[in-house]
Amino acid sequence: MKFITVKNYEELSRKAANIIAAQVISKPNCVLGLATGSSPLGTYAALAKYCDDGDVDFSGVTSVNLDEYVGLDGTNDQSYRYFMDTNLFSKINIDKNKTHVPNGCAADLKAEGIAYDKFIKELGGIDLQLLGIGLDGHIGFNEPDKFFTAETHEVKLDPSTIKANARFFESEADVPTKAITMGMLSIMQAKKVLLIANGEAKKEIIEKAFYGPITPEVPASILQLHPDLTVIYSEN
Ligand code: F6R
Repeated sequence: MKFITVKNYEELSRKAANIIAAQVISKPNCVLGLATGSSPLGTYAALAKYCDDGDVDFSGVTSVNLDEYVGLDGTNDQSYRYFMDTNLFSKINIDKNKTHVPNGCAADLKAEGIAYDKFIKELGGIDLQLLGIGLDGHIGFNEPDKFFTAETHEVKLDPSTIKANARFFESEADVPTKAITMGMLSIMQAKKVLLIANGEAKKEIIEKAFYGPITPEVPASILQLHPDLTVIYSEN
């Protein structure tokens, strides 16, 4: 594991964007695993600038996102599809048809999960997976549990996650209680994993996840077993 401590969010975003840009430059038809949330916003803004400046060409890239709320479709401004379209895809020259987010409105979420994993496998897996981390240690929406789940699956969101994500909604009651998330297998099979986290509030979970025991009670701790993991953390 490479653990990089930086001085602020701006530096974190720049470093993360540089790692992603290097991936796209060295393999223009790569598969990027992407995350939503507040952590990657600065990274996505930096990537948009690199694209604008003509330094990075995303036209050959395929993306697969980690997760989506159950019941929200892409036109809903709280959906993760909408987030990705707004904060990244509309700002870079990626082919929109090559961007993928699990369908939270699928009639059969189990079948959607199986199809999503099959699709990732057919792509040849993920070259670089970007992750944030929840205050309870979740990655994607793999919440603390008694076991790790390998496949893309439906999850009931932890009350602490609902509380944390309420900041994006009008009220806590509006936060969906379920999501569909990539499981640990596709994440762990990614050739490279890059996890970014910032803020004093994340310090404790970062220590637990990367310097504590590997346990499904702290889902991100499984990443300690990944052969090519980079963590970038900024306390500010
Ligand atoms: C989002 C995702 C989540 C977030 C995590 C941290 O696609 O998979 O695991 O990365 O909840 O969210 P922020 O960055 O908002 O603190």
